[in-house]
Amino acid sequence: MAKDFDAMEDSNRSGNPSIHEVSDPARRIWVQGGLAALAGSVLAPWLAGCAGVPGSGPLLGFKGIPPTKEDGLVVPEGYVAEVLAPWGEPVGVPGRMPAWREDAGNSAADQALQMGMHHDGIHYYPLEGSSGRGLLVMNHEYTDDGLLHTDGMKTWSAEKVRKAQAAHGVAVIEVVLQDGRWQMVRPSRYARRFTAFAPFAVQGPAAGHALMKTAADPDGRTVLGTLNNCASGMTPWGTYLSGEENWAFYFDSGDRIDADQKRWGLPKASGYRWAAHDERFDARRHPNEFHRFGWVVEIDPYDPTSLPVKRTALGRAAHEGAWVGVTRDGRAVVYSGEDARFEYIYKFVSRDRIAPGGGAANRELLDHGTLYVARFESDGSGRWIPLVHGQGPLTAANGFADQGEVLIKSRQASDRLGATKMDRPEWLAIDQAAREIYCTLTNNSARGAAGMPGVDAANPRANNVMGQIIRWKEDGDFDALAFRWNHLVLAGDPANARPEARGNIKGDIFACPDGLMLDARGVLWIQTDAHATQMYKGELERIGSNQMLACDRTSGEIRRFLTGPVNCEITGATLTPDLRTLFINVQHPGETPSDRSDPDEPDKYSRWPGGRPGNRPRSATVVIRRRDGGVIGT
Ligand code: FEO
Ligand code: CA
Ligand code: CA
Ligand code: CA
Repeated sequence: MAKDFDAMEDSNRSGNPSIHEVSDPARRIWVQGGLAALAGSVLAPWLAGCAGVPGSGPLLGFKGIPPTKEDGLVVPEGYVAEVLAPWGEPVGVPGRMPAWREDAGNSAADQALQMGMHHDGIHYYPLEGSSGRGLLVMNHEYTDDGLLHTDGMKTWSAEKVRKAQAAHGVAVIEVVLQDGRWQMVRPSRYARRFTAFAPFAVQGPAAGHALMKTAADPDGRTVLGTLNNCASGMTPWGTYLSGEENWAFYFDSGDRIDADQKRWGLPKASGYRWAAHDERFDARRHPNEFHRFGWVVEIDPYDPTSLPVKRTALGRAAHEGAWVGVTRDGRAVVYSGEDARFEYIYKFVSRDRIAPGGGAANRELLDHGTLYVARFESDGSGRWIPLVHGQGPLTAANGFADQGEVLIKSRQASDRLGATKMDRPEWLAIDQAAREIYCTLTNNSARGAAGMPGVDAANPRANNVMGQIIRWKEDGDFDALAFRWNHLVLAGDPANARPEARGNIKGDIFACPDGLMLDARGVLWIQTDAHATQMYKGELERIGSNQMLACDRTSGEIRRFLTGPVNCEITGATLTPDLRTLFINVQHPGETPSDRSDPDEPDKYSRWPGGRPGNRPRSATVVIRRRDGGVIGT
């Protein structure tokens, strides 16, 4: 989406040196092996269960599909895709299920009980281990206020700000497979919405910090809301992690901005226009409110009474999401990246071991440990640099009074530490058995531009409009301080007239990798978020609408599995434990170049999923099954 900030101003970039070397993408430095299988008493039973993976035969058994430009979903022969939970459907809170109104006439109070807008990261949580009944937890990243209100943004009011805030956040819904079809269970005791005004506890070293205190929260330990929740990860102890990504762009600075605010890209006036009716988002009046977003939040969907938590030990960043690996002795290692041009990749290593007993037994696990930032060297090695107060340049003299301030200013700390500036890190996927991590670097057209950082080994293309997937293998266990890395693939069309945009894909072509999922059979699923505005004329025509592809990491083959409606992005993927149902999210179908639709012509580019003239396009969860009930992808 445009709010992934392709136009991120260069004023906020770091001054770190770049490594001037072009990598050899053909290098393969380690042998692929093992499935993402975990076992052990501390882990949730469904994860341990993945060790007995269903389905033998070829890794990629489906017939790939061609690129499309249709206003709908296309899946391979033998598969069915159905819409499950579009924006505006009531989530199923008992006794409070306001029906969706096609004219966008629902109130803010209604919206707070309905599916939010712009579905993104998603995960399936089985109930009693079932592959036929479970919870879906998903993010609602942002809003298109042209679609959200009957007359769009032509008029502006406190009610509209409240409704936009209610359309953000996270949803928990219960779903069941009945007579071969998945449906929402409504009412459900698990159904919940977390909005931009729902209370969150703050934990970890920055909780209660002077920079976290506001007039409304003098303790600095309770924040109202989560913002711009992008990608998600499921923890082995059964909770949900969600990344607050482009939170900076909800605040107004007016004409007063300090160096730290500038480093985060705080705009003069936010396009969301919340500050007009909610002074929390006026950074002149409440400068510390700005520090209270940019965290990874943890939600326990199995406990409908649980309070969600902002985990400050994981650092403050434009977090795409967060993904967990487990060391051999049972500690959690949380990987995350910042989706912004020339920003960083992090990992957090917990001090303590994961305890048996689910979320309740691990309430402080992510509050104690060490945060590191990645540096990718030109020889294929890499290292993790700790963000610890008092070590190296992270001192009071350099503006870091204590560990809380190091975490609140993780980006500034990483600048000082010489971390590698990446091409917009989006999703990660972890091969638990092989200790390998994959990360999409979606694109960075500013790479190599005048006054901007040049290419380096990990980010090897100037004017990078196609993106790449990088991978690394930790030196031993997940808590290692060193790793070896290379590229899985550089995206782009081999027939492109521009050599720098061709890439090295084996198989079906794509651009701008974003979502990633490694399934229990070892298939790496790739989802794309390419926009015509990022491409040269005609380049996206051959690649087609945004899509989902499957990668056999052993052969390197990539095969197209699904394409989405016009101007959507495909994001978020989760499988039931039996691998026979795939849930994905379709985000912003019909997106306009300005990101704000015209309420008088809501169906200008897409009317998916309604399909009728005048239908507002709606982001939605989609269920994909094989007609014969078989394992997805075989
Ligand atoms: Fe929200 Fe980086 O995509
Ligand atoms: Ca997006
Ligand atoms: Ca994304
Ligand atoms: Ca993206």
